[in-house]
Amino acid sequence: MFNQRIAARLKPLKKHTTKLREDVEFIRGWLREPGEVGSIKPTGPRAARQMASVADPSNPLPVLELGPGTGPVTSAILERGVAPEKLVSVEYSPEFCKYLSNHFPHVNFVQGDAFDLDRTLEGAGFGEARFQATISAIPLLLVNRRKGAELIDTCLARMPEGAQFCQISYSPKPPIGAIPGRFRVRLLDTVFRNVPPGRLWVYTSDRRS
Ligand SMILES: C[S@@+](CC[C@H](N)C(=O)[O-])C[C@H]1O[C@@H](n2cnc3c(N)ncnc32)[C@H](O)[C@@H]1O
Repeated sequence: MFNQRIAARLKPLKKHTTKLREDVEFIRGWLREPGEVGSIKPTGPRAARQMASVADPSNPLPVLELGPGTGPVTSAILERGVAPEKLVSVEYSPEFCKYLSNHFPHVNFVQGDAFDLDRTLEGAGFGEARFQATISAIPLLLVNRRKGAELIDTCLARMPEGAQFCQISYSPKPPIGAIPGRFRVRLLDTVFRNVPPGRLWVYTSDRRS
């Protein structure tokens, strides 16, 4: 009884410690590669949940995550009910990959470049994989439009018609605008409580078959 009461009191403290460890790991990553990490704080729980909402746990296809960092969005995808084995997550930083593998043991983390997605997935045995949705926190604002648009095209080509590519950004406009005949984009949500306030965009294919 006494032990149970102590455990209940320590529970919120444990949550704070985990969050603090995640923030410290994230800032260390930002100090190593500010251009690639692109933000000084991990995505907050509300924005992460909204991003994860494009994944459907009952869909047999896996979910593709890009740029998991220290895993706030990974965590939201799993909390939504997607089985860890059905999540493929591509992260550039080997240090983040190590951290993630310790925290989410059954998720398929792939260390590599999302902008070279086909080769990165091929190298990890997911060359033929098709996905139900893509959830991305890659800093698309920091790359040129051609490179960003190619990444969106590559992901959409691996998903069924109508499937969604969700991207977080911190700009009033989408990081990559719609390109008629290639993809459309719409605003899913603005999360003012995120630091910095985040906009969530959803890209869908505009290719006519
Ligand atoms: C803004 S952080 C987002 C991290 C986390 N998903 C979150 O929401 O807090 C961007 C992440 O994308 C990763 N990243 C940047 N460029 C990448 C690339 N070309 N391929 C794979 N990951 C990349 C960074 O290492 C970093 O973990």
